[in-house]
Order: sequence, then structure tokens, then C-alpha cells
Amino acid sequence: MATRDAGLDIMQIKAADVPLPHAARTLAEARKDCLERFGFSVVRGFPISIYDPEMQARIYWCVSRHLGDPVPQNRNGHMIGHVIDVGDDVNDPTKRITQTTAKLQFHGDSCDVIGLMCLHPAMAGGESRIVSVTTMHDEMFRRAPDLCRALHLPLIEDRRGEVPPGGNPWAAIPIFMWNGKRLAGYGPLDAYLESAKRYTDAPPMSQEQWDGLRLFREICEEPGVALNTNLQVGDIQYMHNPVVFHARRSYRDWPEPERRRHLMRIWLSMPDGPELPQSMAERWIVIERGALRGGVHSAGRKAPNIPLDPTIRAFA
Ligand SMILES: [Fe+2]
Repeated sequence: MATRDAGLDIMQIKAADVPLPHAARTLAEARKDCLERFGFSVVRGFPISIYDPEMQARIYWCVSRHLGDPVPQNRNGHMIGHVIDVGDDVNDPTKRITQTTAKLQFHGDSCDVIGLMCLHPAMAGGESRIVSVTTMHDEMFRRAPDLCRALHLPLIEDRRGEVPPGGNPWAAIPIFMWNGKRLAGYGPLDAYLESAKRYTDAPPMSQEQWDGLRLFREICEEPGVALNTNLQVGDIQYMHNPVVFHARRSYRDWPEPERRRHLMRIWLSMPDGPELPQSMAERWIVIERGALRGGVHSAGRKAPNIPLDPTIRAFA
């Protein structure tokens, strides 16, 4: 509130501007949980619904600033995005599945930490799901070492229009990557691997990679592998992308438009995050520790901004 009274633009706010004496310790623990312990953290119960949309974004930004440095999450330069159904067709390769009610497969985003703050839960479904990269790797290796090895080789993923300057419209990145003794993961969405077949200059994925991907999807869905969280109003979930994959279940919305499931998303760079394998740079572009790394760096990306209208198209 003080930052708004002081006329401070949301995107200018740094952690030092908002000491948050009541929450700082909890947020320091949440940060540790993400980076050093579990790969994720859920902070519950911010009284977020009493505020207007600008203040909701402001609070979310200030809280997240205590974990890391926000980076743009799409070509429109959104520094806070809205996860809400805008009625897009899931099968349209120019659209994003996040802006529908459909299930979202296990995947990773191109940044250190992704945060989701719940403003409205769904009427039914929509649980957020997390699996460990290490668990997935070890289970794949135990059952089918050859298929696991195939997922250490680059898979070809459609960039869907978010092409870095001088880059290909497709990305070549493995699911499992070693960096010394440390394992890192990047999870693509099947639809983006399928639509990458349209690029005739891209090397095709091997049958072993497709088989490995199918086994990967199967294991994710087995009982006891994923952790499900049911975010309620005012809950924030942070996830460390190199060590956990995340997903969401399909959902049904409330009939009233104003009660639609609505999450605010933020992407954070962590200056003290782990060293990353070079192959991660295919998606993150910048991976150096201490640098503002990850985020979307596509040619022609718009200037950083925070849309307050939740129905704004993230990728149109
Ligand atoms: Fe995601």
C-alpha cells in the first residue's frame, strides 16, 4: 500500500523497498524450500480478495521480490501473467493451453522459479501437480535405460513464434541434462513437439525419444509419483523449474464469469540458483549465475509490462 501511496511503479519495486516484517521470515523459508530443499513451496492465505486488481498485482510482486527477480514470461513482455480460460481452442498451434480449461501435461518453464498465486479456484478440478526431475529420471533409468538415455538427447520443440534473435523457430533441448553430478530437467509439451514436425530443417526425433516420452508421461500419472496441491484463494505456489516438472488437471469453471479460475503467474530469476547445463541455454538463452537469466527473449518482444485485465491474450 505504501508503495502505491509513494507513486512507485510496480515494476520498479525491489525487495529492499518492501521489508514485509511479518512475512519476511516465511518468505526466506519458502525460498530455501524451493532452491535447497523440496524444489517447491506453498505459502498460504494472503488476504488477497479484499484488494483491487492493481493492488493484487502489487502485493504479488512485492512478495515475489523476496524470492527473486521477475523476468518476462511471453513475447508481450508480461511480467505478471494471468492463467484463466479465455475460450481458446487447445488444438490451435498459435495459442497456448494455459488460457483454456484443458489439462496441462508435466512440463517446465524457462526460468528458475515459477510462481502461481490463486485468486479464484475452479469449480471442479484444476489441481496443480508436481513431480521430481530426479524421481522421473531414476524411475525411467530403472525401467528402460535406453529410453532414459534417449531423453538425454535433444528433443525438437516448436517455439511457437517466440524465436530468439538469429535463432531457429524450433528449439533442440533434452528432458534430462547433467551438469557435473547435478541433474537438471526441462519438460516440453507433446503438442509443441508434434507441431515442430512442420519444420523440415529440424532434425526429426528418434523413435526411442517418442517411446521414452510416452513412458515418461505414463510414470508421471502413476499413483504416488506426483504431488497434487489444491490452491485456495490467497495461496502462492513457487516451483524450481530445473528440479521439478509441473502440470495441472483439467477443470470446470463456475458459471459466473467473475468466478472463473484465475491464477496470477510470475517468472523469477534467482541470482544464486544452481549452475545450469549449457543445453538449457537453448530455452533460457541466458543461464549464467548472477545474471538476470531465463524468461522469454524473442525478437520483437514488447517492453516489460503488467496487464491488469486477466482476459488479455498472452501470446496473440
Ligand atoms: Fe508452466
